[in-house]
Amino acid sequence: MFFKWSDSYSVKILSVDREHQKLFDIINEFYDQLMTKQAKQLIVETLANLSMYTKTHFRNEELLMQKYGYPKYAEHKTLHEQYVAKIDEYKEKIAANKIVMTHELATFLKDWLLNHVLKIDKQYSSFFDLNIVK
Ligand SMILES: [Fe+2]
Ligand SMILES: [Fe+2]
Repeated sequence: MFFKWSDSYSVKILSVDREHQKLFDIINEFYDQLMTKQAKQLIVETLANLSMYTKTHFRNEELLMQKYGYPKYAEHKTLHEQYVAKIDEYKEKIAANKIVMTHELATFLKDWLLNHVLKIDKQYSSFFDLNIVK
């Protein structure tokens, strides 16, 4: 397995943790498909799935931030948009044979997400804790 979830990645909101775990599951699936040289079409589908679920997760997170007046909402949202744009760009390029699928791409997707959860998402964790979201 490419990535393994750890409790230390928790943002202390169960629904959000579950969504994060699912995103990592899809990235693991993508990695496995790359490593076992599955058909391009299947890999592109997995990336489309990752893009879709990432958008759903980001929307849920943004709604939560808006609801409780999170002060860093705007900059957080910008980071989300950049990641979604990257996933979609890779998906299009792979579909059009403009880039080869590589191990580095899976690493980029995983590292970005992990870094975002640990450094950016965790910042709202303490904010929501104070503002009693459960
Ligand atoms: Fe986020
Ligand atoms: Fe998140």
